[in-house]
Amino acid sequence: MIKRSILAVLCTLALLPAAADEGMWLPSLIAPRIKDMRAKGFRLTAEDIYSVNRASMKDAVVLFGGGCTGELVSAEGLLLTNHHCGYGAIQRHSGIGHDYLTDGFWARSREEELPNEGLWVRFLVRMDDVTERLSAGETAQEIIAEATDGGRYKAAVERMYYGNQSFLFVYEQYDDVRLVAAPPSSIGNFGSDTDNWIWPRHTGDFSVFRIYADRDNRPAKYSPDNVPYRPKRYFPVSTKGVREGDFTMIYGFPGNTQQFVTADAVNYVQNISDPAKIDIRTKRLAIIKAAQQSDPALRIHYAAQHAGVANAWKKWQGEVLGLSRRGTADKKRDYERRFTEWAAGTQYQDVTAELREEHLRIIPVYFAREILNETLRALPIPYSARALEHPLFERCIPTEQALFRMMFAEYERHIGSSEYAVGEFRRGVERYGSAEAYADRIFELARTDAVNEEIKTLVDGIADNEAALRKELGTAALRNLNSARLDELYARYLRGLREFDRKRAFFPDANLTLRVAYGTVAGYEYADGEYHKPQTTLAGILAKDNPEVYDYNVPQRLRDICAAGDYGRWGVEIDGRKTVPVCFLATNHTTGGNSGSPIINGRGEIIGINFDRTWRSTMSDLEFDPAICRNISVDIRYVLFIIDKVGGAGYLIDEMDLR
Ligand code: ARG
Ligand code: ASP
Repeated sequence: MIKRSILAVLCTLALLPAAADEGMWLPSLIAPRIKDMRAKGFRLTAEDIYSVNRASMKDAVVLFGGGCTGELVSAEGLLLTNHHCGYGAIQRHSGIGHDYLTDGFWARSREEELPNEGLWVRFLVRMDDVTERLSAGETAQEIIAEATDGGRYKAAVERMYYGNQSFLFVYEQYDDVRLVAAPPSSIGNFGSDTDNWIWPRHTGDFSVFRIYADRDNRPAKYSPDNVPYRPKRYFPVSTKGVREGDFTMIYGFPGNTQQFVTADAVNYVQNISDPAKIDIRTKRLAIIKAAQQSDPALRIHYAAQHAGVANAWKKWQGEVLGLSRRGTADKKRDYERRFTEWAAGTQYQDVTAELREEHLRIIPVYFAREILNETLRALPIPYSARALEHPLFERCIPTEQALFRMMFAEYERHIGSSEYAVGEFRRGVERYGSAEAYADRIFELARTDAVNEEIKTLVDGIADNEAALRKELGTAALRNLNSARLDELYARYLRGLREFDRKRAFFPDANLTLRVAYGTVAGYEYADGEYHKPQTTLAGILAKDNPEVYDYNVPQRLRDICAAGDYGRWGVEIDGRKTVPVCFLATNHTTGGNSGSPIINGRGEIIGINFDRTWRSTMSDLEFDPAICRNISVDIRYVLFIIDKVGGAGYLIDEMDLR
C-alpha cells in the first residue's frame, strides 16, 4: 500500500544526516538525530528527551496559554516563560497604584502569587503515530474519545506532511497557574517595538508563574487549598554561560511553518500578501501613533494594539527582505523543475503543474479572505459595551473614525471590484457614494446603535462572505494559502519529494505540536563586512539608555546597579570587563509559539529563554537559510540577575537547581 511505502521511505530518510541546523523534530522520533546532535555537543539520550516510561524533558515543557511555551524550573512548579507571553496576565492584575506592567511584580510569598482565570498550561502525556489506525477505518473522533480517558486528558489528532502521517497527542491541562514575578516593562520589553525582531537585542523578556494542583498533584480549578504542582521533571539551571559554537537545543511548541510549499506560494507571500498587509498596517500604525503622540493617556490606551499590529507588520517586512535577498522563490522553482524532470513517467509527473493551476485558482480567493481579516474584520462592528463605557472612549473617537475610514478604503481598493467582495459592502459604498462616506455611516452606527438593521446586514454580509470563501477553498484548516485540493496535491508532492530528494531531512511543518530544534550559539554576517556577534551585555543597555525615548528608558534601579558595578554573583568578565550577559543568538529553527521555550545546553540544563528571531531570518517559516536564520534568547544569567538584584526575589532562585 502507498502508506506502507511512505513509512519505509520515511524510516530510511530519518537515518541520513541532517542538513545544517534546519528542522523542528517530533520528540518521539528524535532517535535518528541523536548522532548528529552528539556530534554538535549533546551529551544525553533520546530517552532523556522523550519517554513514556520514565520522566523525561518533555515533562518539564508546557504549552502556555495556547500560543507560547513555558518550562518548569523547580520541584515546586515554578515556571518560566516570556514577559510578552505573560503580558495579558500582568496587565489584568494592573491598575492605578499597582501598575505591574510599569513597575514589575514580585510575589513575596506564596500567598501573594496571583491567580489568572482562563490561563492554563498543557503537558504532553504521550504522542502516537495513528496513521495506520486512520487508514484502517477508525475516525479521529474515535481515537480522541478513547484517549481522553473519560475527560482526564485533552487529545488531538494532528496531520503531518499534509496528512501523509497523523499523530495523536494526549495532554494533561492544569488550570491554576499563578503569576509569581515579572520585571518592569522597561526591562521585560526593553526596546519594545523599536528593537522587536532586531539584533543586537537587550530585552529581559521573561516572567515567572507557578502551577498549582490539588493535594493529589492532579489538575484542579483555582482554589486557595491548591498546592504547588510537583513536576515529574524540571530543568536544572546552568550559570556557566554560553560561548559561540556551543550546542543548543530548543524544546517547545512552534505554531506554523510552510517548508514544502512551491515557488508560487512563496511568490504569493512575498509579492502579494505580505506587501498588501504591510501597507494596510503602515497606515493603521500611523493613525494609532498620531493618537499616542497627541495624548499620554492614549499612548497607554493604544499600547497593546500598537504592539500587536506592529509585531506582524515588522515580521512580514523582514520576511519579504529575507525571501527576496536569498532568492527563495527562484531556488524553489529550480528545485521543482528538477523534480518534474525526475518525475517524468511516474505518478508524480503532473503534480507540480496541478499545484500551479490550483495556486492560481485560489490566490484571489485567499487574498480576499486575508484582506477581509486585515480590514473589515479587524474593526469593532459594532463596539462592545465595554469599549463604549471606557472612560477614554470619547477621546478616541477621531482616531477610531479615522481607522474605520482607512480600513473601508483599503478593502475597497484591494477587493472592491473583485467577484469575492462582500456584496453588502459594495451596496453600501454605492449607496453613500464612497468607501469613506460609508465608513462614516457605519462608524456612527457602530458606536450608537448596535442593533441597527444596517449594521446587522453588514455584519451578516461579512460572515456570509467568509463562509463562501471557505467553501470555495473547500477547507476550514486555513492557516496559510491552502485549499482542500492543494492539501491533496501537496500530500502527493511530498510523497514524490521523499523519493526524489533522498538526502533531504524531512520534518513536518510546525503546527503547535511539541518539537525539538537544535543548533549552536552563533553570530552571522549581517551585511557585507559586518559580523554580528552572538552575545549582548549590560553595556549595550547603558549605551541605548535615553530617558527621553520611552522604549529606551532604563529603570533607575538598573542604572544604579550598573553604576555601582553591583552584579553580585552574576557578574562575568567579557573582553576584560565585568558585566552581565543579556541576550544571545543561536541557529535553532524556531517560529511563533516558540516564545518562552527553554534553550538548553548539551547536559540538559537551561541556559536561556527563547523569545524572538532576527529580522530577515523570519523567512525561516518558508525556508530556513543557515547563513542568516537565528533565534534570539535571553541569557538565563540575566534573568537570575534581574530576579535577584532588581526584584530582590532571591528566594525564587533558591528554589531552582543551579549548576
Ligand atoms: N517578535 C516577538 C514575537 O513574535 C516578540 C513580540 C513581543 N514584543 C513586542 N515588542 N511586540 O512574538
Ligand atoms: N516572538 C515569537 C513568539 O512569540 C517567536 C518567533 O516568532 O520567533 O512566539
